[in-house]
Amino acid sequence: MREGPAWPHRDKLPGTPRFCMRRSIRFVLLTLTVIFFAAQLKQPDLSNPKGHNFKAPRAVEDSLRRACFDCHSHKTVWPWYSQISPVSWFVSKHIVEARKRLNFSRWTNDPEEAANTLGEACDQMRAGQMPPKSYTAMHPEAELSKAEVDAFCKWAINGQ
Ligand code: HEC
Repeated sequence: MREGPAWPHRDKLPGTPRFCMRRSIRFVLLTLTVIFFAAQLKQPDLSNPKGHNFKAPRAVEDSLRRACFDCHSHKTVWPWYSQISPVSWFVSKHIVEARKRLNFSRWTNDPEEAANTLGEACDQMRAGQMPPKSYTAMHPEAELSKAEVDAFCKWAINGQ
């Protein structure tokens, strides 16, 4: 008698457990694909509002643009992955929230309010709270050096 697989294609036969599992994996993958494409139809508004009235010395503005403007201004740069559902839903909600708290593009005319906000921004940078770690993980260039934070704080506290 010859040894060997009795029936090489046995796994693919209807009714065997492996056949059923393959079919359900295929079904789940197909369902997920359909959901993914359907989700693309629901996109939040990713356009930037107009206007930007924040003025600062070049170096300060550069630091803020690198580390803060994506969330706290109308100058958000939307990377490709932020335009794909469901990432786009989370990112746009996060940015709406961030702009509500602090928006450099709708900067106040009130010197006292401006000084308070800049002081708070300095505190957040020094505490390592802002920019958020989840953001610098994707945008390493947003990491500010201690010298850059010090320069910002010096300007924020003394010389606007
Ligand atoms: C990835 C988005 C993102 C970036 C980048 C970012 N922030 Fe924020 N920031 C938020 C969100 C969301 C909130 C509101 C929720 C919270 O307090 O965590 C916030 C809140 C704040 C607040 C208010 C804190 C409070 O307790 O009320 C300050 C001040 C602030 N950010 C400053 C900055 C500064 C300065 C930078 C740049 C160095 C920066 N943020 C970068 C998302 C961001």
